[in-house]
Amino acid sequence: MHIVHTVAELREKLKHFKRPAFVPTMGNLHDGHIALVRQAKPLGDVTVSSIFVNRLQFAPHEDFDSYPRTLDADAARLEAAGCDVVFAPREKDLYPEPQTFKVHPASDLGDILEGHFRPGFFIGVSTVVMKLFSCVFAGMPSGVAAFGKKDYQQVMVVRRMVQQFALPIEILAGETQRDANGLALSSRNGYLSEAQLEEAAQLSHALRALGEAARAASGTPDLPALEAQALQALARRGWKPDYLTVRLRADLQPPQGPLADVPLVVLGAAKLGNTRLIDNLEM
Ligand code: PAF
Repeated sequence: MHIVHTVAELREKLKHFKRPAFVPTMGNLHDGHIALVRQAKPLGDVTVSSIFVNRLQFAPHEDFDSYPRTLDADAARLEAAGCDVVFAPREKDLYPEPQTFKVHPASDLGDILEGHFRPGFFIGVSTVVMKLFSCVFAGMPSGVAAFGKKDYQQVMVVRRMVQQFALPIEILAGETQRDANGLALSSRNGYLSEAQLEEAAQLSHALRALGEAARAASGTPDLPALEAQALQALARRGWKPDYLTVRLRADLQPPQGPLADVPLVVLGAAKLGNTRLIDNLEM
């Protein structure tokens, strides 16, 4: 496995290949990332992963500086999973000058849920993903890029970006990996204390309970009331929830009318102590 830092080195390593399978990450890898590498690998002729903590997607008060940087451990895990090339640019490699050209997702998708509570987040994500795609896939007839469904809205934003810019890239969405209690694996779980790790699974339990209550209601359920109850129940346990909500899988808008047979996803974000966790369940 090769570890490269510059775009030129990356392109040199990829020049004899035709279909990269690419897993972009911010490092501090867990089993969810490794599962994505294993799923993506057979779909391309070279497997590439990037490790880059992208300043553009963090607000000034967020955890950019403290985000764990564990390149050696990450590289060892990627090598064991069969990754061929790790692209670990320094900031000056990816942003040699301030990134003034940016990708702005449409507000109906980019400014709701995560985009509402983290303004500018999806501009930062779309911009770096577009740039990473151009580093990895430029000149390639086709490629595959894998993202985890834990970041459900992110996958939808990236899919729409790929579609609207006609990029020849297939997007693979990997299932969320969970611990034995149901807690979705996330690099940010590393911020949690032992006691908080126990409690953290309650987010997925709350989403499941909300989804089941919505499905069980006859006719058109009063979703705002069910969502408010779910939010209060989590707040009573000491969480600071941003949202717990039932949405259409198609476009993440609130469903109208009866829910029978409509593909839904229940999404949530809440702070436990100082750590903001997100999760979702397709119902
Ligand atoms: O999901 C992530 O880790 C990041 O948002 C991504 C896609 C690597 C872009 O920085």
